Amino acid sequence: MDNTSVQPCAPASAPVLEATDLHKTFRDFWGRPRAEAVRGVSLRAEKGEVLGILGPNGSGKSTTIKMILGLTRPTGGSVRIFGLPSSAKGARARIGYLPELSQLHPFLTPRETLFYAAGLFNMEKAAARERVGQLLEKVGISSADADRKVGEFSKGMARRVGLARALLNDPDFVVLDEPTSGLDPVGRREVKDLVRGLGAEGRTVLMSSHLLAEVQDVCSRVAVLVRGLVRAEGSLPGLLEMRSGPVRFDAEGLPEEKTGAACDALRALGAASVAASRPTRQLEDFFLELLRRSGEA
Ligand SMILES: Nc1ncnc2c1ncn2[C@@H]1O[C@H](COP(=O)(O)OP(=O)(O)OP(=O)(O)O)[C@@H](O)[C@H]1O
Ligand SMILES: [Mg+2]
Repeated sequence: MDNTSVQPCAPASAPVLEATDLHKTFRDFWGRPRAEAVRGVSLRAEKGEVLGILGPNGSGKSTTIKMILGLTRPTGGSVRIFGLPSSAKGARARIGYLPELSQLHPFLTPRETLFYAAGLFNMEKAAARERVGQLLEKVGISSADADRKVGEFSKGMARRVGLARALLNDPDFVVLDEPTSGLDPVGRREVKDLVRGLGAEGRTVLMSSHLLAEVQDVCSRVAVLVRGLVRAEGSLPGLLEMRSGPVRFDAEGLPEEKTGAACDALRALGAASVAASRPTRQLEDFFLELLRRSGEA
């Protein structure tokens, strides 16, 4: 008898993620509906896209993610990853997941944590050691910290270990539930750069957040979830463009003394009001520069 299990093959042209009309109603012990967490969410992500799920606390982000990963059974709807059911081996092997809570063993060091996880992926020892070293560096864990027990770590440091674990199997689809929670501004910037890098490498990322700036900085597309429903979805420039109101010009290299003349010219062309101002930095950039100057980062 042939013992080989037959696994479906991923269709080449399928989107990385296709979730259709997902519903989840949590029920109590007696089967009565307790919370309608997700009420018809459809999401799609293509290769190389960084898709953000933005929404306030309790809007259904984590529940949607768990349904996508097959960790929670949907009450309705369907999920395909690389054109396969999320339970298929061919899909699972290509997914990396950072849960909302990192759930790390407090008595293991980051190196041991990752090495153990590498074993679960049947990674060969020498290759695993090398990969673990690379990932610890990538997420900003120093070699001294790599051999300290995770239980002694701050929340942000533990988050980095969770992130490294999510990337261990070199996944094509990376799912990150609140990746920067607990991180300081330096860590947050590093994680944002890392996520952008994953997209640039052609990987697909699905990340949730309730931090607007974070999603704006990193995601190419966003779905806004409110009380279990997608209230807005699209590319960020498309969602944020204001189709009426003032038009802004950015002029670089204009001599200071010519600013007045430029304003006059716009008035002469019919502009009812003209305002010239210098752009301000994001508080994040200002803060990071301050740390850099103080030798802290
Ligand atoms: N196991 C569960 N049993 C009952 N209700 C649940 C369960 N898990 C989630 N819920 C409810 O489903 C709703 C959505 O929760 P979910 O954790 O998906 O939200 P979220 O958008 O991830 O929130 P947060 O930003 O706080 O992480 C909430 O009302 C929550 O109370
Ligand atoms: Mg959540």
